Amino acid sequence: LTDVSTLLLSRIRDVADYPEPGVMFKDITPLLADPVAFEALTGALAEIAVRTGATKIVGLEARGFILGAPVAVRAGLGFIPVRKAGKLPGATLSQTYDLEYGSAEIEVHAEDLDAGDRILVVDDVLATGGTAEASLQLVRRAGAEVSGVAVLMELGFLGGRSRLEPALGNAPLEALLQI
Ligand code: PRP
Ligand code: MG
Repeated sequence: LTDVSTLLLSRIRDVADYPEPGVMFKDITPLLADPVAFEALTGALAEIAVRTGATKIVGLEARGFILGAPVAVRAGLGFIPVRKAGKLPGATLSQTYDLEYGSAEIEVHAEDLDAGDRILVVDDVLATGGTAEASLQLVRRAGAEVSGVAVLMELGFLGGRSRLEPALGNAPLEALLQI
């Protein structure tokens, strides 16, 4: 592990049996509360944005907003929120995706994405990959390109990377930590 990875990992709190029995929740609030760790995190993600040639950052509600907005500012790029359904007032594109039980729906303002854009999707966790996959479908339906997906941590045992592959195409999935 690099020094940055070790620092980030040390600020993530494991919470057993949350939000339901058998689940180990990865709580990033200690990391957000530590200015040195938070700066290291947003710096590492901003570096991915620059390296992959992103023109805008998409953040996924809600924890992807906390990370994506400072990454956009640090990389000198605009920020686009992908929100849970019903929260955006303008003309939206909407995408539904399957959850373990039931389904979810996310939306984006179509006018925020242009044909020439290269989008980096930022979120805290890649778990099953359903949320990130749906966001990539929104980006592509809007006519923009994908520069990559960047997350703080990837929960490898849930297989999100394989699920995401078709939607990623040649774009990279970058995870700062593999759990
Ligand atoms: C969590 C997490 C990711 C997503 C990962 O968000 O922040 O966005 O789940 O899961 P997946 O890879 O299986 O789709 P959640 O919707 O729980 O809520 P929040 O970000 O609004 O807290
Ligand atoms: Mg989330």
